[in-house]
Amino acid sequence: MSKQILVTGGTGFIGSHTVVELQNSGFEVVIVDNLSNSKVEVLKQIQEISGILPKFEQFDLTDKQKVKDFFQRYPDLDAIIHFAASKAVGESVEKPLMYYNNNLNSLMNIMECMIEYKVPNLVFSSSCTVYGQPDRLPVTEQTPRKEAESPYGNTKTICEDIIRDTIAAYSGLKGIALRYFNPIGAHATAKIGELPLGVPNNLIPFLTQTVAGIRPELSVFGNDYDTPDGSAIRDYIHVVDLAKAHVVAIERLLTNKNKKNYEYFNVGTGNGVSVLEIIKSFERATGEKVPHKIVVRRAGDIEKIYADTSLANEELGWKAESTLDETLLSAWKWQKHIM
Ligand code: WQD
Repeated sequence: MSKQILVTGGTGFIGSHTVVELQNSGFEVVIVDNLSNSKVEVLKQIQEISGILPKFEQFDLTDKQKVKDFFQRYPDLDAIIHFAASKAVGESVEKPLMYYNNNLNSLMNIMECMIEYKVPNLVFSSSCTVYGQPDRLPVTEQTPRKEAESPYGNTKTICEDIIRDTIAAYSGLKGIALRYFNPIGAHATAKIGELPLGVPNNLIPFLTQTVAGIRPELSVFGNDYDTPDGSAIRDYIHVVDLAKAHVVAIERLLTNKNKKNYEYFNVGTGNGVSVLEIIKSFERATGEKVPHKIVVRRAGDIEKIYADTSLANEELGWKAESTLDETLLSAWKWQKHIM
């Protein structure tokens, strides 16, 4: 009997790639998603890749009764991966209450049902944004978290603490928080990727839309940072490598290999790459030119961050495998596929 995994937000960018990897590893998946930032067609694309159509239920996780009804209908869940959350940094500054309501209440409804229906294992989608601008690089899991740069980032910090305190209070619960760096790219089949919903905030979708002629020019937000070429540095990780980290985290919990009831892991490549280096790598990998200009810094951006991934490498036996060129090429292939 294969283990059954609930994936909330499973039709989203990272969620859909994780569902494919879970299915490839023999897990049975049920997705709950309110489709507020994704499309139901993703389910068919997942099936085209894995050969398996995941079970799917559409409702909002802030509706406590609907969450309870769901758990009553699925009494045999072995674990939960919780992706479902609002995640646009800029939007969270304009609509903080929507972010606190959605991101915190969804998690609390899930955890109350985990206790009531005895679902022991949770993997949580956290973010390097909890570190703010670190004083020292690379960041380890022991790097102190800092005042979040946005309400979105603050919801990630608060959710980590809700999980910590709930696991401490209720025996039988255990969890892993995966702190993502910058997920980019798309599945090699180009059947799933980051859906373009509105004007992209993130660098890679804006870059590929610019090269595709949808946007006139990419703005590089600042070249006066204290970095080798002046542009800001991030740790860009292929979304499939990130998805695979969720599978090993689930397996760690299901086989009780976790060393503490609540563990955190940085999930990045360990390589810091600047915006201008991204442009150079994309042009080298695709042979395309990226029309761009330097503009002023974006408010709220940090200067540089990248991960120390040794804990995940050693404890999870996981390491990001894709090169930056391969990753950017997959993003370009996805862009061309959706045109
Ligand atoms: C990357 C770099 C920009 C757009 C955010 C969230 C993080 C996660 C990923 C959800 C920065 C520069 C960007 C552009 C640019 N979100 N840039 N021109 O801000 O590192 O992280 O998204 O989980 O939590 O904080 O990602 O892709 O927006 O920016 O120069 O048009 O690219 O200044 O240096 P970011 P990003």
